[in-house]
Amino acid sequence: MIDFHAHILPDTDDGAVDIIQTRKMLEEARMAGFTDIIATSHYKKEVFELNEISRQNRINIIEKIDNKVKLHIGSEIYITRDLVNLIKDKKASSINNTRYVLFELPFRDNLLIFNSVIDDLKRNKLIPILAHPERYEIVKNNPKIVEDWIKRGIYMQANYLSILDKYGKDARKTLEILLKHNLIHFLGSDAHRPDNTYPKIAEATEKIKKIIGEDNFYKLSEENPRKVLNNEKIEFLKTTEIKQSIFNKFK
Ligand SMILES: [Fe+2]
Repeated sequence: MIDFHAHILPDTDDGAVDIIQTRKMLEEARMAGFTDIIATSHYKKEVFELNEISRQNRINIIEKIDNKVKLHIGSEIYITRDLVNLIKDKKASSINNTRYVLFELPFRDNLLIFNSVIDDLKRNKLIPILAHPERYEIVKNNPKIVEDWIKRGIYMQANYLSILDKYGKDARKTLEILLKHNLIHFLGSDAHRPDNTYPKIAEATEKIKKIIGEDNFYKLSEENPRKVLNNEKIEFLKTTEIKQSIFNKFK
C-alpha cells in the first residue's frame, strides 16, 4: 500500500516534531502495510514554507538511517492564487515532481478563487488532486459538488480515518456516499503523529473494503498512487449519480 498523504517529515509543518517521531511513524506505517509514503507536508504561505530542497534533504537523511518504507516528495498546498508559481519556484512540490498536485481548501470559507486556480493548473498541464473532500463544509452540505469537480478533471483523495469518525459523523457519512458512488481515487492516512493514526489503518481498511470491495480498494490504495508516482494517466472510475435524497436525510 502507498500512503498518499502524510505529515511525516520532522520539524517541517504541524506533523512530526522530530526524527524520533518520524521513525516511530515509519515503523507504524510499515506495520500497517505501507511500502511507500508520499510526504505531503503542508505548504501554506507565511505558516509552513519549507522549500523543496530543505524537504528533500530531510528525506535523504531519513533514508540513510531508516529505509524500510520509501518516502517520496510532495506537498499539501493550501489553495492560493499563485499556486502554480509555488511549484515552478520549487517552494511547494508536486507529487514526486510529476504533473499531479495535492491541494487543500479552507474548511469553512467560500471558495472564491477555486475556479481560477483550477484553470491555472490545467493551463500549465498540472493535474489537481483535492485532499480529503469529505472534511469540507461545502461537500458535507452538498456531496454532489464532487461530481462537478471530477467532471472538471479534479481527482479526490480521502482520509482512511474519516470512516472511523475521526473528523466527525458528517465527514464519515459524506465519505460513505463518495465511496459508494466511486468518487474517490486515492486514500491517505493524513498522519501527523505517532500512536493515533497508523495503528487504526487496519480497522479503517476493513470498513472501506466493505463499501467498495477488494478490487477498488487495491486501486485507491496501491494502483492509482503508483500511477501518480510514475506520472501515468489515471482513468476515472465509472461513477453513479448521487441522488439528492441520500444526503438530505442526514440534515
Ligand atoms: Fe494533511
